[in-house]
Amino acid sequence: MRSKLHNGVESARPYEPEKNPAIRRLTAGAIKRRKTKTHFPIATAYDAPFGQFVEAAGIDVILVGDSVGNVVLGYDETTPVTLDSILYHTQAVVRGTTRAHIMADMPFGSYQVCNEDALRSAIRLVKEGGACSVKLEGGRDQAERIRAITGAGIPVVGHIGVTPQTAGLGPGFKMRTHRDRLMDDARSVEAAGAYAIVLEVVDPEISREITEMLGIPTIGIGSGPHCDSQVLVLHDILGMYPHSPSFAKRYAEIGRMATDALAGYAAEVREGRFPG
Ligand code: KIV
Repeated sequence: MRSKLHNGVESARPYEPEKNPAIRRLTAGAIKRRKTKTHFPIATAYDAPFGQFVEAAGIDVILVGDSVGNVVLGYDETTPVTLDSILYHTQAVVRGTTRAHIMADMPFGSYQVCNEDALRSAIRLVKEGGACSVKLEGGRDQAERIRAITGAGIPVVGHIGVTPQTAGLGPGFKMRTHRDRLMDDARSVEAAGAYAIVLEVVDPEISREITEMLGIPTIGIGSGPHCDSQVLVLHDILGMYPHSPSFAKRYAEIGRMATDALAGYAAEVREGRFPG
C-alpha cells in the first residue's frame, strides 16, 4: 500500500505492515470511554484502499460490515454473506490501515446456533482476520452469545432495532418504535458485556432514552442525532450508487464521477487520442 493517496495527500500515517509494535490500534476500551464525551464518526470499509482513505480522513473506527453483501458482492441482502467473506474483507482493511479500530461483523449463521459456534467464529475474525472487535445482531435473544464471546476476551458490539440479517424474513426495515422491547434489548446487551451498541432505524426519542440510560456508547444509523456515535455505509457517504437510504447523506457523487472518467477513457481509446 502507498502511504501517499493518489491526490497527493499524505495518509494519516505512512503505511507500514504491522511489524512496528509501536503502532497500536484504538482499543475497544478507548471507544467505550468516549461515551458522552464526543460524537464520533464510524464508516464501513471493505478493502485496503478505502480503509486507507477512511483512516486518512481521521475516522478511527472502521466497520467491516456484512453490508459488503449489498454494496460490494452484488446481493440484495446481507443474509448470504459468509464468515469467509468477512474474513477476506477484514484482512484487506487491516492491511490498508495502521491505527484504526477494525470492527468485523459476524454474518448470519456464524453465531446463532450455539455459543461454541459464536466463539469459534469470533476467534477466527480476530485471529485470522485481524479484527479488534466483533459485532453481532440481536438483543436479549443474543445476550448469551455476547457473554460467551466477551468471556473469551473478545470485545463485542451489539446491534438492535432493524437487524438486516433477518429483517427480510419478518418485520422488514421500518422504524422500530417498541420502546419497552428496545430498552430491554439495550439493557441486556450492555449487561452481557458489550462495549458499544448499534441502534439501527430506531425512533430518535427512544434512541435518546437508550443513550442516556446506557453506560456504553450508542452508535446510530437512521436513529436521529442523540446517539454517541454515527455509522454510515461507505458507498452511501460517497454516493457510489444512484440510490441511498433516506437517512444517509451523500458527501460526494463518486459513482457518477467513476462512470464519467471511464467514459472519457473509452472515448479517447475509440478516437485514437489515448495513448497520446
Ligand atoms: O453491515 C453494516 O454495514 C452494518 C451497519 C449498517 C451498522 O451493520
